[in-house]
Amino acid sequence: MEFPFDINQLFSERVSVLDQTLVGGRKSAGRPDLQAHIATVIDELGRASAKAQHLPAPITSASKMQSQRHQLYLLKDGESNGGRGVAVGFLKVGYKKLFLLDLQGVHIEVEPLCVLDFYIAENLQRHGYGMELFDFMLQHKNLEPVLMAYDRPSPKFLSFLAKHYCLTQSVPQVNNFVVFEGFFFNRSAAQ
Ligand code: ACO
Repeated sequence: MEFPFDINQLFSERVSVLDQTLVGGRKSAGRPDLQAHIATVIDELGRASAKAQHLPAPITSASKMQSQRHQLYLLKDGESNGGRGVAVGFLKVGYKKLFLLDLQGVHIEVEPLCVLDFYIAENLQRHGYGMELFDFMLQHKNLEPVLMAYDRPSPKFLSFLAKHYCLTQSVPQVNNFVVFEGFFFNRSAAQ
């Protein structure tokens, strides 16, 4: 996704980890003008993600990021667009207290890291960028994908999880979250 400003000035790294402060690297700290551009990038990507998932409204925006304790991993391609860079996509995660049904159908209370939103620009999908971003987040969090919960995953995302991480056996829930069998096998090891 292209913008009328320099993406490389906003985001120093190929993958930036953003939190409530919306600071994209050393350059944007204490620079309200750059932070306004970062907000524009997040808002545009959030809108495109909602459209791709046929959601009535975005679940990711700069103002939501500022009020919630979520983390957003943003992937750029610094060389494209005549060296100004493009925003390739984002992955948003956060901890949520959930009541889940285990393999025996018993309710348990857990607070796993959840994937809340995930989007790669339309023209760049199926080029491996999603996996690059997801793998970055797993390393950053030192976590296995089976130990995470997925908020209302789209058919494309379910296909992505099956292909890259062999996650296929989901355990039926009464809410919108999807977890896979290993979530319960590995729980004691994870805590
Ligand atoms: N149709 C079916 N499967 C797809 C598609 C598609 N159009 N696009 C990606 N995938 C899945 C497939 O398993 C594909 O493998 P294949 O090409 O061999 O079939 C695999 O993803 C490709 O992997 P990557 O290239 O690493 O993934 P990509 O960069 O496309 O990112 C993502 C995956 C984020 C799901 C992307 O396709 C996307 O943005 N989709 C639209 C928005 C969306 O559905 N986001 C998930 C929301 S749910 C949530 O966030 C909890």
